[in-house]
Amino acid sequence: MDLSVSKLAQRLTVASQSHLLQFWDELSPEQQAELTLALQGMDFQEINGFFKSAMETSSSCKQEKMDARMEPVPREVLGSVTRDKESLKDWEQTGLHQISQSKVAVLLLAGGQGTRLGVSYPKGMYDVGLPSHKTLFQIQAERILKLQQLAEQKHNVKCCIPWYIMTSGRTMESTKDFFSRHKYFGLDKNNIVFFQQGMLPAMDYNGKVILENKGKPSMAPDGNGGLYRALGSQGIIDEMEQRGIQFIHVYCVDNILVKVADPAFVGFCVQKGADCGAKVVEKTNPTEAVGVVCKVDGLYQVVEYSEITLATAEKRSADGRLMFNAGNVANHFFSFSFLKDIVEKYEPQLQHHVAQKKIPFVNVQGDLIKPDKPNGIKMEKFVFDIFQFSKTFVVFEVLREDEFSPLKNADSQDGKDTPTTAKHALLSLHHRWVLNAGGHFIDENGTRVPAIPRDGAAATVTDDGNRNLKDGTDLPIKCEISPLVSYGER
Ligand code: UTP
Repeated sequence: MDLSVSKLAQRLTVASQSHLLQFWDELSPEQQAELTLALQGMDFQEINGFFKSAMETSSSCKQEKMDARMEPVPREVLGSVTRDKESLKDWEQTGLHQISQSKVAVLLLAGGQGTRLGVSYPKGMYDVGLPSHKTLFQIQAERILKLQQLAEQKHNVKCCIPWYIMTSGRTMESTKDFFSRHKYFGLDKNNIVFFQQGMLPAMDYNGKVILENKGKPSMAPDGNGGLYRALGSQGIIDEMEQRGIQFIHVYCVDNILVKVADPAFVGFCVQKGADCGAKVVEKTNPTEAVGVVCKVDGLYQVVEYSEITLATAEKRSADGRLMFNAGNVANHFFSFSFLKDIVEKYEPQLQHHVAQKKIPFVNVQGDLIKPDKPNGIKMEKFVFDIFQFSKTFVVFEVLREDEFSPLKNADSQDGKDTPTTAKHALLSLHHRWVLNAGGHFIDENGTRVPAIPRDGAAATVTDDGNRNLKDGTDLPIKCEISPLVSYGER
């Protein structure tokens, strides 16, 4: 061992992680160099500290249910697309005005591994099988493009919506390459900023870093709340400040219906003077495993279904709705100054959550084991962990069928949140847009297809606005409208 390696070995001993070098003599010089590089980049003191406090928080959370400390979102901080219809236009105008002033940015969380979907490439590159075969990235890019155009036309100025894209070690290169191959989907490449979140090692229950092979620790991104650290360490907050960004819409890559930089949501938050806002959909089934936005000890947070009793989950208000019905869809608004404060002051106070996982590892004999039950943890921060620091928090309720259909799992019979459910959600939304606009569908013989059809028909609206109607054999009617034709029905 040369000097730098013996220094590393010493550091590992101090941190009780010396097992990471147990196969050193069996590694080739290249593998030794790679392992050294990986370990030298890790702050073991910090990692051990994260492990200790994450485990402590997780065991104290398990013991205590939240029920007695929870209050639902008060009506005065809630805006709703169904209950406040008379204000919607006004909120939209405000949002569109801010966009036209280039004060609104969007921030995409795309650093996840997409393990449940099971593809080896970033989820944004997934094609759910729309008639156009557009990927999630393309759909989002075209929505941004269209919204820019709408703001420019309305206010007669040039504007841009910068797009910040958070990737991780595993998704960065392929994401950048995909955008470049597709010429940034018509957007100006100078307004797309890629940055990378941090990674943390997977640990066993005794706090030992897991080796995924003899020369490599098992690493995973540090959760979508890794955003806040990355915004600081990668200079993104400064970049936003230089551009004069004042409001940021943060969203997840996997929601095919996402209204990127939704002017109504932005306008609502701006009019309320909010520093932080969350979009929610109504939770209607008490046992649905969705986190709800509510107050705990007077501060806003997302409470997971597993953290409350069934009795609380089933409680109803006078109007018959569930009392805790603000289903979190990971779709947030931040004022720039709030985000900057989080990054500069509050981020270190955020605790990692513990996710128990089946993590492949090499045992002391050097055999690769694929466990069939959880054998360790991954540590993650969540994007919504910062609600507690908000001073003017608001909630914006939208319709699930219009705005939320996440892609989480691979296709399977009766599967939830699959490519098929995502595709159907988008096609059925666009179908409704046509009907709402007074349109109807005809079959190949020119016969009108009933609004709730027995036989299917297929339609696409192309980028230049032409409508093509074709026969289809499967239900529902296949109607896809290009985002370049319409952003949210307009
Ligand atoms: P999920 O928690 O659903 O994770 O992410 P995932 O990676 O998409 O899928 P699984 O759990 O491995 O199957 C919700 C959103 O948060 C992002 C994801 O890219 C997705 O947009 N995310 C998740 C990050 O940006 N970084 C992370 O470390 C984790």
